[in-house]
Amino acid sequence: MKIMTIVGARPNFMKAAPIIAAINEHNRKASKGRTVEGSDASIELQHVLVHTGQHYDEIMSGSFFSDLALPKPDVHLGIGSGSHAAQTAEIMKKYEEIVMAERPDVVIVVGDVNSTVACALVTSKVSFGGAGTRPLIAHVEAGLRSFDRTMPEEINRVVTDHVSDLLFVTEESGLANLNKEGISEENVHFVGNTMIDSLLAFQGKADSSTKLDELGLRSSSGRNGTGGKVSRYALLTLHRPANVDNRESLENILAGLRDLAKDCPIIFPVHPRTQKRIKEFGIDLDSHVANQNGSELPQSIASGILLIDPLGYLDFLCLMKNAWMVVTDSGGIQEETTCLGIPCVTVRENTERPVTVEKGTNIIAGTSREGIRAAIQTQSSRKAGLTTPTHWDGRAATRIVEVLVRVLANQRSSFRPALA
Ligand code: UD1
Repeated sequence: MKIMTIVGARPNFMKAAPIIAAINEHNRKASKGRTVEGSDASIELQHVLVHTGQHYDEIMSGSFFSDLALPKPDVHLGIGSGSHAAQTAEIMKKYEEIVMAERPDVVIVVGDVNSTVACALVTSKVSFGGAGTRPLIAHVEAGLRSFDRTMPEEINRVVTDHVSDLLFVTEESGLANLNKEGISEENVHFVGNTMIDSLLAFQGKADSSTKLDELGLRSSSGRNGTGGKVSRYALLTLHRPANVDNRESLENILAGLRDLAKDCPIIFPVHPRTQKRIKEFGIDLDSHVANQNGSELPQSIASGILLIDPLGYLDFLCLMKNAWMVVTDSGGIQEETTCLGIPCVTVRENTERPVTVEKGTNIIAGTSREGIRAAIQTQSSRKAGLTTPTHWDGRAATRIVEVLVRVLANQRSSFRPALA
């Protein structure tokens, strides 16, 4: 049985890594003739890793392969950047050739990026035998909804879910959303969160990152390892087009961080999209900034924010777990901070991950400077009290592989899509 996993952009790598590890574990046990918990050990799984190349440079892609011990991709489509249409279309054209040549039994897509929807759509329409036979499509992180169709990721989520045969859900809201959209319950599996599998597997290793020392955030006694006193700092990430592609929005957010920047240093690993915009808008965070529409970024913000290049997985995890507070517009970081018990301020109007607010450490601040300030204020006095969402226990990928093996054993390759 052949399983093909698609990765393309930064947030895919940590979601796919545990699945590949769980496939290897299944095969290891199968080769020893051992029964694998709940699955048919006689099925050996062949795995093919496809990287679309949506993210392509060392800091957005390469370093994640080494940090997460991911195997080298078997196929690299080398797509690169482009408009949504151009990027999606290029992936679709090149991926169709690969899926036809490889003829996998299952294609796993993860998350909500353009690579996810492009490969799911291609797979939903290929036919191997002229009789409508095609691979099963498994969507990992199905059912999340922000209900904001201006977000490209929301379109990607909805379309991917509706062409998928197996929907692996990370939190209870996903079950309710898919149910409302008429997706058959038997195709939906609440397995937990593979991004959290990675976090739990790698957080020990992240302790050996030297980033805190390089940034002067830890006293020297802790150099090259744990120990030493870590200074209070906040960690910031911003990359949503709605937040960074417009000068006023970006400056508003930075203005909302003024009080926090007075209080403690804000470490800001800057995504390439945001780097470009900061340059283009002439926002100089090292000095006082006044802009054309009259608003201004006071010196106090500037002096408190330290811009650095995007970080690899382990370095970022180290900075996240030691942070006093995280301010972000990322989806995954809302989940990771919940798991780590670090207060998180989400600079968005909504979240597709409500469990991080209901059970976790997240506050949805909106994007106005007042909203951001107020949320930071609230989080400053937050008392730790950690509830881990259901199934965020490091075993999501194992559950996924168990389901896949069961389904493959029952249906083999003559599957007909349940939604057709
Ligand atoms: C994509 C995803 C988003 C995810 C984010 C994580 C979609 C629709 N968006 O957005 O959901 O949260 O990745 O980063 O799929 N660039 C580089 N080096 C790279 C990759 C990109 O410099 O390795 C530059 C590109 O030239 C482009 C910008 O970064 O100008 C944005 O990249 P793009 O792939 O368009 O989307 P993201 O904003 O990263």
